[in-house]
Amino acid sequence: MPLAETVEAMEALKSAGKIRHWGVSNLDTDDMDELVAAGGDGCVTDQVLYNLVRRGPELDLLPWLTDHKVPVMAYSPVEQGRLSSHPALEKIAAEVGATSAQVALSWTLRHDGLIAIPKASSIAHVRENRAAADIVLSDADLATLDAAFPRPRDRRPLEML
Ligand SMILES: NC(=O)c1ccc[n+]([C@@H]2O[C@H](COP(=O)([O-])OP(=O)(O)OC[C@H]3O[C@@H](n4cnc5c(N)ncnc54)[C@H](OP(=O)(O)O)[C@@H]3O)[C@@H](O)[C@H]2O)c1
Repeated sequence: MPLAETVEAMEALKSAGKIRHWGVSNLDTDDMDELVAAGGDGCVTDQVLYNLVRRGPELDLLPWLTDHKVPVMAYSPVEQGRLSSHPALEKIAAEVGATSAQVALSWTLRHDGLIAIPKASSIAHVRENRAAADIVLSDADLATLDAAFPRPRDRRPLEML
């Protein structure tokens, strides 16, 4: 579908009061350029795969979204549960009195203008994930995580799950 038609439909729904806002998902930097060119500057978020093992968006998409004041919605922020155990996460978790999943989530939330949407099916996980928003990782913790989960050197297409 041409993006311009989709934008027009979203804006019509907004004008009619059927929706308050609209956003997109899995759009990479070039897609966001295309969206804006199609009149889509009313988009309020791009929901993308972003976590410690999916750092590709840091190279260009996150800066693009920051420059254009579009909040990022990070999906699968604990890599579908796979980041709930890892030696580097466990070490920091023990030091800050948290769990590995909380450290992974807190790392993702370190960006201003970034929302994370972990899926949880127990109240215990929901509470744990909410509490991760209050954890502040130190510069030393961030350096440890950078070493354990390095940012890719070269730009790569946006990954999706
Ligand atoms: N736009 C897209 O293309 C796209 C693609 C994929 C996903 N999503 C969205 O992203 C959201 C979440 O993604 P996801 O489910 O793929 O990945 P996720 O949130 O990274 O991982 C969910 C898994 O992590 C576990 N978990 C959650 N909190 C935990 C904690 N504190 N400690 C240990 N384990 C924990 C959950 O277990 P329990 O269930 O046992 O709590 C579940 O198995 C959903 O809303 C989904 O719709 C969007």
